[in-house]
Amino acid sequence: FSTVPEAVDAIARGEVIIVVDAEDRENEGDFICAAEKATPELVNFILSGRGEFCAPILPDTARRLQLIPIVDLNTAPLGTGFLTPIDHRTAKTGITVDERARTVRAMADGTSLAAEFVRPGHVHPLLAKEGGVLRRAGHTEAAVDLCRMAGCAPVGVLCEILDDSGERATREQLLELAKKHSLKIISIEQLIAHRRVSEKLV
Ligand code: 5RP
Ligand code: CA
Ligand code: ZN
Ligand code: ZN
Repeated sequence: FSTVPEAVDAIARGEVIIVVDAEDRENEGDFICAAEKATPELVNFILSGRGEFCAPILPDTARRLQLIPIVDLNTAPLGTGFLTPIDHRTAKTGITVDERARTVRAMADGTSLAAEFVRPGHVHPLLAKEGGVLRRAGHTEAAVDLCRMAGCAPVGVLCEILDDSGERATREQLLELAKKHSLKIISIEQLIAHRRVSEKLV
């Protein structure tokens, strides 16, 4: 695995990284990048994970963009915070890599407002807990924490990674993928440990 500072530097440079959660949680690897750095090329690569294309945000952003939970009662096993899916209002269908990059970049622009987006769309905003991975050890919080630590707007982009047969990619496969594409790869456990030490919480 890479170190957390290596992963943070990669996010700051606008690279995609792989983040795995605990083996006794989802045991999934997600591609993650900062929304403000999203380009059509980057989005195209992230979609090769073939999971759901999501944009983790903080409660402040959700309020500003008037994004509400997609269901009244969240019964997802891990309570993943799916909000109203949106597209940028300039998008034709919202699904192309150019359009999805535009949507997430606008979400990361701290001055954008609700009217700049149409709903329902094709980008899934996910509501992160304030406090990040120290509150909830999910990819949602990891993405927002990494953006913040990299000095980027606290809006991430993530997509789960499947293997060629459509199964969750194993850690071994994820390490191989990281090597193949020269991507940094870290675990959420590493991120939690790093934050505890660097914020003097231990
Ligand atoms: C979105 C998901 C993914 O698992 C994503 O990683 C966010 O979930 P969590 O924060 O629970 O890890 O379900 O499609
Ligand atoms: Ca999930
Ligand atoms: Zn469509
Ligand atoms: Zn996840």
